[in-house]
Amino acid sequence: MTLLRTRKRKSLASDIGASPSKDIVPFPRKRESMAKVVSERRWLKSWTPGQVGGDNVLRGGRSIIMLTSGSKPERIEAGTGKMPRHVAIIMDGNGRWAKKRMLPRAMGHKRGVETVRKIVRAAGELGLEALSLYAFSSENWKRPEDEINDLMGLMREFIKSDLDEFAANDVRLKIIGNYKALAPDIVDMLEESIARTSQNTRTTLAVALNYGAQDELARAARSAAAQGEITVESIEANLDTAGLPPLDLLIRTSGEQRLSNFMLWQAAYAEFWFTDTLWPDFSKDELAQALTEFSTRERRYGGR
Ligand code: FPP
Repeated sequence: MTLLRTRKRKSLASDIGASPSKDIVPFPRKRESMAKVVSERRWLKSWTPGQVGGDNVLRGGRSIIMLTSGSKPERIEAGTGKMPRHVAIIMDGNGRWAKKRMLPRAMGHKRGVETVRKIVRAAGELGLEALSLYAFSSENWKRPEDEINDLMGLMREFIKSDLDEFAANDVRLKIIGNYKALAPDIVDMLEESIARTSQNTRTTLAVALNYGAQDELARAARSAAAQGEITVESIEANLDTAGLPPLDLLIRTSGEQRLSNFMLWQAAYAEFWFTDTLWPDFSKDELAQALTEFSTRERRYGGR
């Protein structure tokens, strides 16, 4: 019986080009809705060797992520630990993207916002529970005033233009960082948007604004002390990210390999993935590539 089950599992896995593993679990065909089967088949049909990409297919209430890393499709069931629940991105390289094209830096940031839009959509399509984006650090105030104004202007535009889409796509907006120090109209706009999307459950978009991990930790420790004992749990409960799933994967674009005061606590057991791609050129395909590589990492959390 066990042998039969193993054989069935192997043949289904090889049907879709995935390597048989305990994390790739076939579903009972009879109970699957035809629409979902067609959706998965269509996805596989449209895949060509060398392609990188991914999509989320729902079957009977369970989620399967179809990913390709260029050689063959991988079918990963959400909930097996092979798909990250929470991905954070240090979006770097807007300035260099603009410089390479002899454009003003502001154009790099503008294109960066378009990439934010695409990646938020991709996060929903790939079934991520949370996506955290480092948009403005507490150190970015050192930049020239014009650039700060450009970034704040883009933030206003982004919220105005994209909030309806968040609401329609079940995206919950969360802000991490000391955002109350931003201009009052931005604070109002953010708080209204947070309230409007607070009941959404598909994906949480956590935007880091005026964020510095050291400041976040100091604030969390102060709150924990005011409530009682300082422990790992009490600090964690007071971090700006409280309530989000643990950080699984941290991506940084543009070839830099440092944390720059981002999610120092949360990154304790996160996997890191770096790419030379400048943020405005980052794509859903490259995100899928990072997720595919994540699915192959062995996470031991200090054990063996
Ligand atoms: C780093 O590029 C990027 C930033 C400091 C800001 C990131 C902001 C955006 C992508 C746009 C605003 C975001 C939202 C959510 C609306 P850099 O300027 O340091 O690039 P460089 O290292 O090439 O100079």
